[in-house]
Amino acid sequence: MTSEKLIELAKSAREKAYAPYSGFLVGAALLSESGEVFTGCNIENASFTPTCCAERVAIFKAVSEGVTDFRALAVVGGKAGESASDACYPCGVCRQVLSEHADASLKIYFADGSETTLGELLPWAFDLK
Ligand code: THU
Repeated sequence: MTSEKLIELAKSAREKAYAPYSGFLVGAALLSESGEVFTGCNIENASFTPTCCAERVAIFKAVSEGVTDFRALAVVGGKAGESASDACYPCGVCRQVLSEHADASLKIYFADGSETTLGELLPWAFDLK
């Protein structure tokens, strides 16, 4: 699967975002080693704290289905009504959650064509080991 295709899937997932409070819509697409894709969108809540980011929805879907080996993640985000073509970087909480289940080598793709790795985004991740 190409990075462009994974970004397209993240953009489709973004269309499902429920973000009436921030008006900021995010989509994520997580590619497993076996080629399966798990998508997520941000889901907000009137009580604010229970809001869940798109990346965590995607990885929790995967882990809850028994999938724990990942190759790449695409993240897209932007204000409602805008095209989300700039890079949208995962928040710190999502970086920490990703680091629990993915290697530092996990590729992360952005809508502006740039890419990085989880290790670059979160060096020295917290770990109980
Ligand atoms: N959001 C994500 O979905 N992923 C991130 O990595 C950062 C933020 C969402 C949460 C909230 O619904 C909205 O973007 C504004 O913070």
